[in-house]
Amino acid sequence: MCESKDRKEIILDAAHTIDRNTREGSEEGFRVVIAGKGGVGKTTITALLSHLLARDGHTVLAVDEDPQMNLPYAMGVPRERSDAIVPLTKNLDYVEEKTGARPGAGWGLMMTLNPDVSDVVERFGIKGPGGVNILVMGTVVQAATGCLCPENALLESVVRYINLREGEVILMDTQAGVEHFGRSIAQGFDQAVLVTDPTFNAVQVAKHAAVLTKELGIPTVHLVVNRVRSEKDAIKVKDLLGDTADLFTEMFFLPYEEQLIECEPDVEPMLASTSSPFVKGLRAVQSALVQYGTKPDS
Ligand SMILES: Nc1ncnc2c1ncn2[C@@H]1O[C@H](COP(=O)(O)OP(=O)(O)O)[C@@H](O)[C@H]1O
Ligand SMILES: [Mg+2]
Repeated sequence: MCESKDRKEIILDAAHTIDRNTREGSEEGFRVVIAGKGGVGKTTITALLSHLLARDGHTVLAVDEDPQMNLPYAMGVPRERSDAIVPLTKNLDYVEEKTGARPGAGWGLMMTLNPDVSDVVERFGIKGPGGVNILVMGTVVQAATGCLCPENALLESVVRYINLREGEVILMDTQAGVEHFGRSIAQGFDQAVLVTDPTFNAVQVAKHAAVLTKELGIPTVHLVVNRVRSEKDAIKVKDLLGDTADLFTEMFFLPYEEQLIECEPDVEPMLASTSSPFVKGLRAVQSALVQYGTKPDS
């Protein structure tokens, strides 16, 4: 389902314009991309880390890059409100309708925004439970070969355009797999959290993603091994990783947590179980993110 050549070019042009106007150099806050195979726990972990960071005083922007758009449910946004969320892709189309601009041209109006978290959220996102800001991108599924889906390039440039002040954090939950890493999606991110479970296929995806994140220049890449049921599981993953283990800044092992099934899709109540080894493990991941995200002179 490719767009006409014209519209494609206009949208890509808008993306390039935003990129050209994006502040270069370091920012005070930090951005974390969460990736891995489908079903390993990316959305669960993104939602819980967002709540933990917000509770500790960070201003969190949780970005849903998955076309399935299920992060708001995991964040605890009530169903009626989640269902009513207009993803950024559609929102930009509204701008176009309202202004009567040529197809695609309205997207360039993003440029009139002061690029900080509160502005972007006020216009395009929602304030979720626990004060976490949520932005649903409405990523276009990469369809048949040959379709470059310029909307995705535009969405990515909008996220890059936001300038993070001190104490501000972006956590971006991504779609399954590593194909999208070939695009610029994770460009400009400071840290990646690659999630796997103790299965061969999921570890393969994490290994591949680790290589790609390094190639993209992301300096800090953590591995979270989720749903670990025994010491044997942990040893299996270490064996499967082999030398690739050296690519990771830190590795975390989170146990299987029965209670998650009881509370999903809204996983926030899980955090009340402070003695849960799963929650304790998440706290350790949170500490690492803050530690590596703290800029030397801030
Ligand atoms: N540590 C865990 N223990 C038990 N179940 C888990 C754990 N982590 C995630 N889950 C469950 O696994 C399922 C998939 O998780 P999800 O976060 O949606 O994965 P992804 O976003 O990677 O596709 C959910 O039902 C979630 O509750
Ligand atoms: Mg998910």
